Amino acid sequence: MQQQVTRTAGEGDAEAVIGAINGRRSIREYEKRDLAEETVRRLIDAGVQAPTGLGFQPWRFVVVRDRDLMREVSEYCKKTLTAELAGVDDESTQRFLSLLKQEGFNIFYNAPVLVLVFGAADDPMSSLDCTLCAENMMLAAWSLGVGSCWIGSASVVARNSDLMERLQAPEGYNLVAPLIFGYPAAMPEKPERRDPVITRVG
Ligand SMILES: Cc1cc2nc3c(=O)[nH]c(=O)nc-3n(C[C@H](O)[C@H](O)[C@H](O)COP(=O)(O)O)c2cc1C
Repeated sequence: MQQQVTRTAGEGDAEAVIGAINGRRSIREYEKRDLAEETVRRLIDAGVQAPTGLGFQPWRFVVVRDRDLMREVSEYCKKTLTAELAGVDDESTQRFLSLLKQEGFNIFYNAPVLVLVFGAADDPMSSLDCTLCAENMMLAAWSLGVGSCWIGSASVVARNSDLMERLQAPEGYNLVAPLIFGYPAAMPEKPERRDPVITRVG
């Protein structure tokens, strides 16, 4: 049933919404403090408000708090990426490689919580849907004073069936968004945005 529209959609939310969009940063230093399960649930609840192709909501979530397992995943990903990127010699890749080789570096930055967002393998739009879901989660986190970072380096864990089993990866789903959450211990500078290239037609 259609609901009565009492105000223009979203009217009055601009400051909070655009403020969170502009202010959100990828956080790479975390307090030791844990994140309550109900906070994680709020983030997931915000995630699932994202639009999805045909309204399919093709996701599953795995919440990881096992720091030993996260460390193991980190070590595997570091090893795999180091081998894979060995021949690439552009400046950014070289910087990334030296970070990966740093003693004790953890790709999850010792965050207390890792949320893995999985998309249904049989839904061609699921990775788009899960990406929108992930951004909702990161913005909701920001609005709650919780830091986040998408850890693309963790995606290679999908090649390790033993680790995927221990992470309880759901059958028939692909890992789309590995996201860390926790209370920020340091706030990075905002990486500047380039002016968008816009073509106007008509
Ligand atoms: C698909 C994707 C993968 C990313 N992977 C990593 C990663 O592995 N490690 C990391 O520290 N940051 C990662 N990031 C965060 C980006 O580096 C970050 O968003 C970018 O530098 C802009 O900074 P901001 O998020 O603070 O605006 C990733 C972001 C995206 C969207």
